[in-house]
Amino acid sequence: MINKTPLYDGIMEYIKEGNTSFHMPGHKNGRSILRINERADFKNNILYLDQTEIPGLDNLHLPEGIIKEAQELAARAFRSDYTYFLVNGTTCGVYSMILGVTNHGDKIIVPRNSHRAVVGAMIIGGLWPVYYEPDVDLEKGIAVSVSPLKIEEAIRENPEAKAVLVTNPTFYGTCSDIEAIAELVHRNNMVLLVDEAHGAHLPFSRKLPLNAMDAGADCAAQSAHKTLSSFTQSSMLHVRKGRVDVEKIEFMLRLTQTTSPSYILMASLDIARYQMEEYGEELYEELLSTLDVFRERVNTISDIYCFGREIIGQHGIVDFDPTKVTINFKNFGMQGTRIADILRKEYKIQMELSDLYNILAMATIGDEKGDYEKLYDALCDISNKYKSEREIRDIPLIDWKMPYQALSPREAIYEPMEMIDFEMSDGRISAEIIAPYPPGIPVILPGEIITRDIIENIIKTKEAGIKINGPRDQRLDKIAVIK
Ligand SMILES: Cc1ncc(COP(=O)(O)O)c(C=O)c1O
Repeated sequence: MINKTPLYDGIMEYIKEGNTSFHMPGHKNGRSILRINERADFKNNILYLDQTEIPGLDNLHLPEGIIKEAQELAARAFRSDYTYFLVNGTTCGVYSMILGVTNHGDKIIVPRNSHRAVVGAMIIGGLWPVYYEPDVDLEKGIAVSVSPLKIEEAIRENPEAKAVLVTNPTFYGTCSDIEAIAELVHRNNMVLLVDEAHGAHLPFSRKLPLNAMDAGADCAAQSAHKTLSSFTQSSMLHVRKGRVDVEKIEFMLRLTQTTSPSYILMASLDIARYQMEEYGEELYEELLSTLDVFRERVNTISDIYCFGREIIGQHGIVDFDPTKVTINFKNFGMQGTRIADILRKEYKIQMELSDLYNILAMATIGDEKGDYEKLYDALCDISNKYKSEREIRDIPLIDWKMPYQALSPREAIYEPMEMIDFEMSDGRISAEIIAPYPPGIPVILPGEIITRDIIENIIKTKEAGIKINGPRDQRLDKIAVIK
């Protein structure tokens, strides 16, 4: 017998290290759940909560009892007409809302840097994407928001499109004007879908940006596990009746979700909703004031910048979610990825994300003041210790034109492909994604025609030391193209 449980042991090893978590899941090792005194038994009941569709426990795919009631309470709390519990993450919510409002061959207007779930839905549904580019803040090295003007342009050029999808807020907390976009989209007889994966907490504090449902969206998919107290993989899809076919969306949910939904995940969504409704406003009051103090203190450390609401007004950003705590090291002269490594190895702090210029902490109601004191102390220490290491570069501005789309994403993945020299690939149809990161906006996607201009731009980007995400050949000497 092999006495080994590598996955379980590995997780327990990580826990034993005693790291401070600035990453998902939002409950932070259960700390946010333990704040609900009257549901403290939740922790002890986890093993018993793993149940199935026996009499009395309802059925997610045909809810008539306790699941129906829990979803209705969620709809009231999140101010939607219908709310659906998701056990396959926001990914299946994105699939269902896109497939629920389109037919095979339809066009849908989406951000060029959409989450892969959006691309997945287009592949499943045989849809044609119309891409718009979000604004980029080169100083911070991040893609930010989209202005209603860009959406208006995409609608004008594609009046037959069925829907517009916006990612809001972004991973970095920047927000677009969803109210104005909703008005514009509806005026043109389309529906507005919001990928609100990072915004499940927004409806519960007056100090947070406007949530998609309140702003007039028709559907919004949220990863409750990222920002609220529910478990990983648990999400919600909110729907406004009127412009969408609710039954078709429900059909797509049955298609994209398991027939054995986890009662642990669903119960955790129920608890997370309860906590927000009962205590959301006060919990966010406390968290946001801790974050204000943290930002102020970090910004006294020279050359380190933790941006906040002052970025509103720049690059079409109309609001900002302060629970996304991005700390920028561009002026300090060290890469964010290196800082994140140091924080983990030397200070037992694990960040959510790091990139060329930044590290990002995902702040939730599971955090304690002491976590931010620890992070601040570590940053002060790093700023003294590593001062002499200056290694940073500018992100080159990529001047590229949206490529011509010869095949839909679905057609492209089913065509035979071959590997050829990247430099010789102009005029060929790409079979893969090429996305310089930062800022993570794909320059080429499957089904699009590669041009000489694109090749030259990517070579320049590569020479500047920018990471290229996507291609099988990481060095991009070769590229996969349609045969
Ligand atoms: C913008 C965005 N949309 C959708 C998703 C998918 O969410 P989930 O992991 O809950 O399936 C993510 C996850 O990281 C995301 O960042």
